[in-house]
Amino acid sequence: MRAIVIEKPGGPEALVWNEVPDPVPGPGEVVVQVTAAAVNRADVMQRQGAYPPPPGSPPYPGLECSGVITALGDGVTGHNVGERVCALLSGGGYAEQVAVPAGQLLPIPQGLSVQEAAALPEVACTVWSNVVDIARLRQGRTLLVHGGGGGIGTFAVQLGKALGATVLVTAREPKHEQLKALGADLAIDYTSTDFVAAVKDFTDGRGADVILDIIAAKYLDRNLEAVATNGHIVTIGMQGGRKAELDFGVLMAKRASLSATTLRARPAAEKARIVKGVHDQVWPLVGAGTIRPIIDRTFPMAEAAEAHRLMESSDHLGKILLLT
Ligand SMILES: NC(=O)c1ccc[n+]([C@@H]2O[C@H](COP(=O)([O-])OP(=O)(O)OC[C@H]3O[C@@H](n4cnc5c(N)ncnc54)[C@H](OP(=O)(O)O)[C@@H]3O)[C@@H](O)[C@H]2O)c1
Repeated sequence: MRAIVIEKPGGPEALVWNEVPDPVPGPGEVVVQVTAAAVNRADVMQRQGAYPPPPGSPPYPGLECSGVITALGDGVTGHNVGERVCALLSGGGYAEQVAVPAGQLLPIPQGLSVQEAAALPEVACTVWSNVVDIARLRQGRTLLVHGGGGGIGTFAVQLGKALGATVLVTAREPKHEQLKALGADLAIDYTSTDFVAAVKDFTDGRGADVILDIIAAKYLDRNLEAVATNGHIVTIGMQGGRKAELDFGVLMAKRASLSATTLRARPAAEKARIVKGVHDQVWPLVGAGTIRPIIDRTFPMAEAAEAHRLMESSDHLGKILLLT
């Protein structure tokens, strides 16, 4: 098969479409013939040499894909060759085939094409596991989504609204109209407006009950200011640096919580539990059309470098897909 190989960590030109050995399904795994894979920020970090795949994962980038099952490993039950699926991966989606534990498969949601479904597994699992499973967002609460215009952000806005929450986002101004159309109640241009003041103003001084944070260090103090009493900050990205001093006094006075997680490094059993939660709680919302994949652009897989250039420009809204 062919896959996107990172010949030497570096710029987008490091991504090369090459012949590589076909994957062999291990026990409990299936092989998926890939129709589409989606681009994630983590793939950019992997390309730069800053985010190596966990042990046992394919060396190629790609954390989610969709396609058709072509082979079953020992012990796989409940799946068939020819079945159309999408999958949460720990790597290897930028390829014509990928082996994946059966517990990380999801059906193609009703009403979506196989191609569109590639835009969902990683963002759905990341957002659900943090915002619902950990931070317990529910009706009547307020969710602040940093990076509302990204792949994670556009999904989080829709899930927050579907749960009955008030949703506030930070994003650059050109993305505001589309984010409001997706359901955002307030869009804050973080380049010109203090998001803490805007959140406090909108919530009559209460703050946000849940903050989905992709910035980390640079926003720690301001997230602590913006979070409500008994609120929860869930950090999933470090776009603003990894080290900062935490003011425990503020955290304790607000009886607030701070969690930080990555999905990729979790063991397969934990991923399977999250995938099941997404299947049971999120897939019905996708099937009903309440949540839909937001796809900015598609590229042929061989042009993954162009797709990475677009992601690094941050000019996209939602997801970028790669098609085999
Ligand atoms: N921990 C995990 O398991 C996990 C899983 C998936 C993703 N992630 C992380 O989640 C983040 C988003 O991933 P993604 O794939 O959705 O990337 P993405 O599509 O590029 O979205 C990120 C968006 O953040 C916005 N942004 C940049 N600086 C910002 C700031 N200071 N304040 C607010 N927004 C800002 C950019 O849009 P504008 O500047 O144009 O508004 C950009 O489009 C990444 O950091 C990624 O590593 C973590």
